[in-house]
Amino acid sequence: MTFEKILVTGAGGQIGSELVPYLSEVFGDKRVIPSDVRSDNNDERFIRLDVTERDSVDLAMEKYKVDTIFHLAAILSANGEKNPELAYRVNINGLYNVFESAVKNKVGLVMTPSSIGVFGPDTPKENVPIETITRPVTMYGITKLVAEFLGNYYHSRFGLNARGVRFPGLISYKTPPGGGTTDYSIEMIREAVKGRGYECFLREDSKLPMMYMPDALHSLLRLAEADDSKLKHRTDFNIASFSITPKELENELRSYYPSFRVTYKPDFRQKIADSWPGSLDSSAAVKEWNFHPDYDLRKTVEDMIVNLGGVGKRDKDNILEAQNK
Ligand code: NAD
Ligand code: SER
Repeated sequence: MTFEKILVTGAGGQIGSELVPYLSEVFGDKRVIPSDVRSDNNDERFIRLDVTERDSVDLAMEKYKVDTIFHLAAILSANGEKNPELAYRVNINGLYNVFESAVKNKVGLVMTPSSIGVFGPDTPKENVPIETITRPVTMYGITKLVAEFLGNYYHSRFGLNARGVRFPGLISYKTPPGGGTTDYSIEMIREAVKGRGYECFLREDSKLPMMYMPDALHSLLRLAEADDSKLKHRTDFNIASFSITPKELENELRSYYPSFRVTYKPDFRQKIADSWPGSLDSSAAVKEWNFHPDYDLRKTVEDMIVNLGGVGKRDKDNILEAQNK
């Protein structure tokens, strides 16, 4: 049985804060249990849960009769390089606890997002397939690669229905990102909307794959609901909507804010970005569970600007049109 009681770990983060309302809308409020190690959450369904504490994970699973888990608790790439020990503990020990408890409690589905972090400097740069050279050089990437293997192991050894996508950089406006390398994209859009300049921590030509949050949420649900017999892969689906460099994003933002300027001062995150590919081959996700993103760069930026309270292009065009009449 699945989707009767859905536990979301790391629910206060960039994805969780949007996934919880999305799942609640689809399955009903009573079926979703948001949890996080941070307790700054006003949702009356919220429970505090540290995934590194095995007993607490077991207790939550038993008490709420959880049948589905969206396991989002993690430490992202840049924060992981600042604190590798914490990244290991949360991303590996936390995942291990969730998998063990899921087997013990006969949980029907565990969704564990992976990342472009699994790739490394030896990975080809463009249109990268799922099966390729994966030698990550960050603690984050190493933990994400282990997580993919662990998910496959728990499936073949214990029959656990573990599934996951390798998310690219996710762009969203509701909750600030949690310390990743692709965070520059969100910061740049926010600063442009505020009418300020932006100092970018990546080089202007650092091309990375990206996706807008609505596409990320739909993809998670689509994979969660996919027919098991159609899946040849489980925990490592490449998915991406578009690829951009910081300069291309700057130029797109200039079409709304002509005086917007970005200065480029690469820091330690450049090395992380340099180890990741510029584009992904998502064909397995398309074939096995009909992945199809709706947002390209233009639509993403337009929607971000409108939702951050800036004037979107369509509005601007309408104003200009009205003035010219
Ligand atoms: P985030 O950093 O915004 O949120 C992670 C949440 O986990 C935070 O709310 C944090 O408080 C919580 N957390 C940390 N330690 C915990 C613990 N011990 N117990 C319980 N909760 C804990 O991250 P996100 O962007 O929402 O990412 C969610 C998942 O998606 C992660 O697995 C991440 O690797 C993956 N992912 C995200 C992106 C992205 O661009 N956001 C890209 C690729 C993959
Ligand atoms: N957006 C994430 C990061 O930069 C990719 O996993 O860490």
